[in-house]
Amino acid sequence: MSAKEINEIKAIAGSYNLENYDQVKDTFEWEDAAKELSYFQTGKVNAAYETIDRHVEEGYGDKIALHYINGDERKSLTFNEVKHQTDHYAQVLKDHGVQKGDRVFVFLPKTPACYISILAVIKIGAIAGPLFEAFMEEAVKDRINDCKGTVLITDKELVKRVPQKDIPSLETILFAEEIDALPQAPAKESLVEWVDLEDGLIIHYTSGSTGKPKGVLHAHRSMIHHIISGKWVLDIQEDDVYWCTSHPGWVTGSVYGLFAPWLNRATIVIQGGRFKAENWYQLIAELKVTTWYSAPTAFRMLLSQGEIFKEYDLSSLRHILSVGEPLNPEVIHWAWNNLGLRIHDTWWMTETGGHLIVNLPNEKIKPGSMGRPFPGITVGILDSEGNELPRGSVGQLAIRAPWPGLMKEIWGNKDKFNSYFLYEGWYISGDLALQDEEGYVFFQGRSDDMINSAGERIGPFEVESKLIEHPAVSEAGVVGKPDPIRGEIVKAFITLRTGFVESEALLEEIRLFVRKNLSAHAAPREIEVVDELPKTKISGKILRRKLKEQELQKLHA
Ligand code: WTA
Repeated sequence: MSAKEINEIKAIAGSYNLENYDQVKDTFEWEDAAKELSYFQTGKVNAAYETIDRHVEEGYGDKIALHYINGDERKSLTFNEVKHQTDHYAQVLKDHGVQKGDRVFVFLPKTPACYISILAVIKIGAIAGPLFEAFMEEAVKDRINDCKGTVLITDKELVKRVPQKDIPSLETILFAEEIDALPQAPAKESLVEWVDLEDGLIIHYTSGSTGKPKGVLHAHRSMIHHIISGKWVLDIQEDDVYWCTSHPGWVTGSVYGLFAPWLNRATIVIQGGRFKAENWYQLIAELKVTTWYSAPTAFRMLLSQGEIFKEYDLSSLRHILSVGEPLNPEVIHWAWNNLGLRIHDTWWMTETGGHLIVNLPNEKIKPGSMGRPFPGITVGILDSEGNELPRGSVGQLAIRAPWPGLMKEIWGNKDKFNSYFLYEGWYISGDLALQDEEGYVFFQGRSDDMINSAGERIGPFEVESKLIEHPAVSEAGVVGKPDPIRGEIVKAFITLRTGFVESEALLEEIRLFVRKNLSAHAAPREIEVVDELPKTKISGKILRRKLKEQELQKLHA
């Protein structure tokens, strides 16, 4: 590193507050993180209590817990108010017979009610199943059916996308508007259900390369991981205004949009509405956001809008983080040159429940690298037999298991769960990476067919299954095609049934069919009609790898 770079880092580090990190980083044990939580003293465990109620009990009830902003709408709630509303929702759930361990789904747009619903479910010991607001019928149905959700909290608009008759386990649908309108009785007793660290907390559905999305279940113990990574990686400080742009239906939106900041008593920002560069910059300026957690696609979209950021006062920003897909050095340089801040990349997965590879704010960043292992985390780069490879080699990115945030199970699917632990003692991520001499990890791609578009995981199988339900489609193979803004886009190769003729209109109809039934983010942006699809000789399975190779060759030709 040049002297200039070192000085720059020192200058930035001055504004970070890694309280006690320097003293403990070499001797850190997860047990130390547990000490940050009140359950360590009381022995009583509930993540919703630690997230909100605890702050009220400790005298921070009047602190602003959230700012909500959507178009012209503005609302702020204190920790007192969030506790009160969470109790109210929890009471309604109890009145409807919800019990410990029940799966209660939350299908709401990014509003305070969404966050409050999730916490209410957790408070009474049930398992929260947050659903992304853009999911369509099929996606909603598959998820609730998989873990037999009994209750759903939604609103009058989104309920139109809930195919109730196809979800036999669903007993009750509650509307946020109606819960809000009910008179709020002062709670007679605490509604907190004390549970065990191993009890279920939240279930997130996520794609792999085969089959439908899997239900990744996390336990209350994850909060140990959340609180300490919130402190050290997000660097949350008392006066921070913290904005994570993800919806709680995705793991980033729940873990780092809700749990980690609120466990650390931060004021969070909840923003509704769609992405628009002007609105995002306006939000940062108006709410004086200090800490901003987003994804490379969003940064690239902002970057592509040119200089409009100059019209906004973004001087409140102190710390920027990124997750979900490879962060290109170009974006890091843009932020450094224009905002005077480095973007700190973080790597983790739905299954890992929290940050594993990070750029701590006071340490050197190597653009192109995802960072270094979080304290207490050991990375291994493994060959195809599970042997560790020397530094500098490309191999399977694996992590020594366990750690507190690690998933508890894949709902109803032991085999799938076990497939992450093929080699004794290691969790296998499915990513390929190399680690350099200084411990920095560089992402090299996936070892399977999973697609990552705009930071969202898309399983090709789910899209292919939907495509072949369209009457015109005979067979389908779906791959990720490199894209300058979204990282990858979903590209489908299809063969047509006899009697159908390729046309723009037909392809658009097929695309809309996936969009309407599955979800917008999984709908192929490109569809190519081919005479036949490459297949394995023996089993006749479609060779996505071949399709991808051909696509890459076309791009480089
Ligand atoms: C990818 C999101 C490159 C990776 C929290 C991983 C990344 C998958 C990064 C998990 C990063 C995540 N650089 N790729 N910093 N972070 N990924 O479950 O392929 O939605 O396996 O979790 O996203 O996606 P998931």
